[in-house]
Amino acid sequence: MNVTITLTVNGQKSTVTTDPERPLLDVLREDLGLTGTKYGCGEGLCGACTVLVDGELTLSCVTPVGEVGDKAITTIEGLAAGDSLHPVQEAFLAEDAVQCGYCTPGMIMTAAALLKENPHPTDKEILNSLNGNLCRCCGYPKILRAVRRAAGKESEVKIS
Ligand code: FES
Ligand code: FES
Repeated sequence: MNVTITLTVNGQKSTVTTDPERPLLDVLREDLGLTGTKYGCGEGLCGACTVLVDGELTLSCVTPVGEVGDKAITTIEGLAAGDSLHPVQEAFLAEDAVQCGYCTPGMIMTAAALLKENPHPTDKEILNSLNGNLCRCCGYPKILRAVRRAAGKESEVKIS
């Protein structure tokens, strides 16, 4: 049965009438037109659909929209501050850390959450945090360099 739900997405309130069991991802993309968040596996296994809910990393493909309540949702569209890109977005551009770009929003959201909690992560901490985000283009070295750049470290990443 459909219900009316008010969501706060990127600082704006939106009301949708929908099945509360529907994935948050579908509501973001199909009802609110926020297509920056991607559908990858639909099973919580790839990280493409990652958003922040009250600052917590959330896989929107396995999160029923009815469970979000009045928590603040941030998608990739809401990460920049006006015309100023988030430092992680800047770093991905600077390091050319995008091939097809499909994984990029999820990677950036995950990295942004990491740096907010831990502004100076070690390589191991970066790798651990990105462990749930898959890149089908295998662009991991550049992605790691981008996160290190955003953290203010040198761009050299050793991968063993
Ligand atoms: S689409 Fe959500 S984890 Fe893959
Ligand atoms: S850049 Fe293509 S999936 Fe990561």
